[in-house]
Amino acid sequence: MFNITRRPRRNRKSSGIRDLVQETNLQVSDFIFPMFVQEGSNQKVEVKSMPGIYRFSLDNLLEELKEVTDLGIRAIDLFPNYPESKKDKIASESYKEDTFYLKAITAIKGQFPELVIMTDVAMDPYSSDGHDGLVENGKIVNDATLEILGKMSVAQAKAGADILGPSDMMDGRVKYLRDTLDSNGFTDVSIMSYSAKYASAFYGPFRDALESAPKFGDKKTYQMNPANRREALLEAQLDFEEGADMLMVKPALSYLDIIRQLDENFDIPIAAYNVSGEYAMIKAAALNGWLDGDRAMMEVLMSIRRAGAKCILTYFAKEAAVILNK
Ligand code: PBG
Repeated sequence: MFNITRRPRRNRKSSGIRDLVQETNLQVSDFIFPMFVQEGSNQKVEVKSMPGIYRFSLDNLLEELKEVTDLGIRAIDLFPNYPESKKDKIASESYKEDTFYLKAITAIKGQFPELVIMTDVAMDPYSSDGHDGLVENGKIVNDATLEILGKMSVAQAKAGADILGPSDMMDGRVKYLRDTLDSNGFTDVSIMSYSAKYASAFYGPFRDALESAPKFGDKKTYQMNPANRREALLEAQLDFEEGADMLMVKPALSYLDIIRQLDENFDIPIAAYNVSGEYAMIKAAALNGWLDGDRAMMEVLMSIRRAGAKCILTYFAKEAAVILNK
């Protein structure tokens, strides 16, 4: 026997002790489940690159939400899929009254009043250019985009959204949206800002789901360069000063250091978006039998919590809830 004073393995010797010393916990109420809604009735279309994730028409979505809420999931983020025919340069469908998307929000609120509904504020699902902002002469223009986002925000707030998620990465949007919401009487509507949103390859499957890929170019003039860490502090600082209630990092897995950094620097809740490509990677490997999908999923979600995110937007919400409820 050696004279070893510190034997860290003693704290791992049984499941009871391991649980006693476990530093991070994951609970179903940490999840925000991103969901996709489309027009029509009796529709449930699987997203090809996201096995197990569907676009629902409202009737089927309400059915699905029974299951979702029965699992203990308390928040969703709802994204609309619009046909090409409804898209235009100025995303006018995003702020028209009574669109199928806004009606869906109101219907969900009516049937599930306790469910937290988050929405996305950006032009891409409604834009014939497939960009998050207004395109003029091949460029994404900042300030004119804000006016469209403002109208979109008021429409979503009116419909009953609890949290707005500006995902567009325009400068000054949080202040502009806060002022617009407040002056329209929506002081209670929260803003979870996509503060550090990177120009990432991991959004591909989401753009399949919404059929919203950019028609030209990429999103690098507004989304952040994956090489940058300090710049995330600036973006977060601005969003904090402009009145964001929560700050989000997106994607999550390649950016755990950014999550940690924001958690250490800001005293408001930090969220992370475990994005579509991160979901697809694990699903694809699991479906091939190359790794244990459930274990990989739980490990990934725990790592995001450990990095410092309080809440996680994740397509795994239902599957993880089933495991956590056992
Ligand atoms: C749109 C938006 C995107 C996502 C959320 N909101 C895509 C993009 O910026 O191209 C991605 C979500 C995911 O990949 O799961 N502004």
